[in-house]
Amino acid sequence: MHIDELSKQKIRMGKIIAIANQKGGVGKTTTAINLAASLAALEHKTLIVDADPQANSTSGLGFNPKNIENSIYECMVDGIEVKNTIMPSEINFLDLLPSHIDLVGAEVEMVNLVNREEKMREALQDVKELYDFIVIDCSPSLGLITINALTAADSVIIPVQCEYFALEGLGKLLNTIKIIQSRLNTNLEIEGILLTMYDVRLRLSNQVVEEVNSHFKQMVFETIIPRNIKLSESPSFGVPAISHDAESKGAVAYLNLAEEIIKKNAVA
Ligand SMILES: Nc1ncnc2c1ncn2[C@@H]1O[C@H](COP(=O)(O)OP(=O)(O)OP(=O)(O)O)[C@@H](O)[C@H]1O
Ligand SMILES: [Mg+2]
Repeated sequence: MHIDELSKQKIRMGKIIAIANQKGGVGKTTTAINLAASLAALEHKTLIVDADPQANSTSGLGFNPKNIENSIYECMVDGIEVKNTIMPSEINFLDLLPSHIDLVGAEVEMVNLVNREEKMREALQDVKELYDFIVIDCSPSLGLITINALTAADSVIIPVQCEYFALEGLGKLLNTIKIIQSRLNTNLEIEGILLTMYDVRLRLSNQVVEEVNSHFKQMVFETIIPRNIKLSESPSFGVPAISHDAESKGAVAYLNLAEEIIKKNAVA
């Protein structure tokens, strides 16, 4: 039913944006869910791809990962069609390609596949033009699934937490991106570095903003995501912050980020 609906739709931009940083807990999933929901709220048809065995994007959108039959992994490894795996969310214009929890072995299985870095790109090819934006939530690793995400992507958003050791690992990530650009995906761009969990009262937060801006000036998004309770509690309700409290500072910040990205990509 849902697939018929999809196939009737017009050709769309299909911009694929990976949210990546191998450092854990920096706001990748929060960004994937809330950016995707904001793009959808602005009536851009958006797909979230949960590319993390932790399945936090899947549960954060109200699905129980234990009940997921097929995930992005079956699409990459077993050739199951993405079209038949996508699930509509409760939000208009927002769909999910889920993950499930017991897939620690998936990477190992993929190691022997031919073109193993290109499996996600191949899997998403069929649905790319059905969406304006496809947002991939990566796991905190630079393993094969993240390499697949970066190979499939047109651009990458790097969330950086306004905390101690904010820049830790960033060099390695940027280096990995360079290698992927030269060997696997010449089109990969850096959409931007996103400062997350900013606390105006903390000197440290302000220092990190200054430090990141001085190192990476043009690459840093103007929008800064504040530390906001609505962002951290909305996954427990299985909804994005915009559905939980649309006026909250967190929801508004992600809406601003969506608008910044839309403007940058010159889509009306
Ligand atoms: N702006 C924010 N304000 C308050 N809490 C936040 C914010 N961003 C993220 N959090 C909380 O911080 C924790 C880590 O965030 P999140 O899960 O988005 O990070 P992640 O990078 O996806 O983590 P992982 O590397 O494990 O996948 C979560 O509990 C989340 O709710
Ligand atoms: Mg995550």
